[in-house]
Amino acid sequence: MHNEYAGVTTRFLNPNERLVLSKENEMPFVIEAKEDNSVQFLQAFLISNTDKILNDMSHYGAVLLRGFNIVSEEDFETTVLSIRGMKGISEAFMSEQGRIHVGNSKYVLHTNAVYKTGGTLYLGGFHSENYYSTDVPTYISFCCLKPSSTGGETGIINMEKIYPFLDQALQTKLEKNNFFVSKWLMSEVAERYHLSDKKIEAICKQFDLPVVTVNDKKFILMYKPNVFIHPVTNKKSLQINYFELPTLNAVLRKKFIKDYPGKMWFWHRFVWRLPDAVLKIPEVIYMVFASLFYSPKESFKIIVSKYKNYMANRKNKDSLPFNDVKVKSCFNEKEIKALAQLMRDYYCSCLWQKGDILLVDNRKVVHAGMPGSGPRTIRAMICNPLDMRYSDPQSGLFDCKSRNSETVGFYMSSPESEGVKSAEYTI
Ligand SMILES: [Fe+2]
Repeated sequence: MHNEYAGVTTRFLNPNERLVLSKENEMPFVIEAKEDNSVQFLQAFLISNTDKILNDMSHYGAVLLRGFNIVSEEDFETTVLSIRGMKGISEAFMSEQGRIHVGNSKYVLHTNAVYKTGGTLYLGGFHSENYYSTDVPTYISFCCLKPSSTGGETGIINMEKIYPFLDQALQTKLEKNNFFVSKWLMSEVAERYHLSDKKIEAICKQFDLPVVTVNDKKFILMYKPNVFIHPVTNKKSLQINYFELPTLNAVLRKKFIKDYPGKMWFWHRFVWRLPDAVLKIPEVIYMVFASLFYSPKESFKIIVSKYKNYMANRKNKDSLPFNDVKVKSCFNEKEIKALAQLMRDYYCSCLWQKGDILLVDNRKVVHAGMPGSGPRTIRAMICNPLDMRYSDPQSGLFDCKSRNSETVGFYMSSPESEGVKSAEYTI
């Protein structure tokens, strides 16, 4: 490999830096401290090498900055933002519970403040970032302030490598049209952002988010494309939240079980062998208690919202006035099994070291917090929203372009800002 960068070492990971070995040997591209490991050196390096670094992220899928003296969220934030053109996303529309900023930081997020997202008994949950929000980032970065004592890496998979192996008929279905992802009660959005329906509808219109009335209740709908076309590589990748395929996680656990041998992983294997329905019980109990412990008030609101959603759907079950077909409709069990095998084959394990920053291209790579044990502190930042459309019907293909404006979440939080078409409503 040519070392085109001055003052650092570039390389790929050694096998002992990975927990699981696979066919993926070129992700992440590692930029390692050589003589100067200071934050000041790193930031000056990123400013002067921005074009090459963005190109390496596009090509390899992820770049790992290793061996630098990153010790705080502030170091993480200023370092990522020192890459020219990197624009932090502070507000993602209707982000999940626990997806909050760390302290007073503007852009650094808890991976989730309610429940642990990696380094647990759980295996699964690969996703393209913010599938369930309108505000999909071009890049997601992670920083390790404390690695798990065992495992707990942020697993990544370059879906560009997998896509050509998917069945041709499946590819045709995925590329043909977008699919329904989620809907939000207008009243819930109004309460969260302290806005009138009129203001919300104006922002929705501006961002191509359909609004429908179901059983006298207004809902905002969101449809998403499935296959992203990368603007640099021109390759396709399936960028969804893989939770959408209900049996995939169980199949993945079977595919990965041999990678977790010995006494150390006994309880993990024990749990993964449980029938999926049985495994769901402790999972749901944990989520409910973690959520209640974090904020009883917020949890109550979520339950009420889910109930209202359910009731509105139930009364109109056979005659919903909108298309609610989801991406899982494209897949049969055989295709899910084949996909799980490909995900295992191209899985990239990169064990965390304290101070690591992992820069990930969210246009082609999916990620998940992997199994492990021991305390773990990983922070995240999302940057540069993609310019997506959310109504249906649209193509299932998405030509990745960054959005020039702010995110939908930003305008919902600050409707008086420049960029919201104020002519369409009165503040
Ligand atoms: Fe994520």
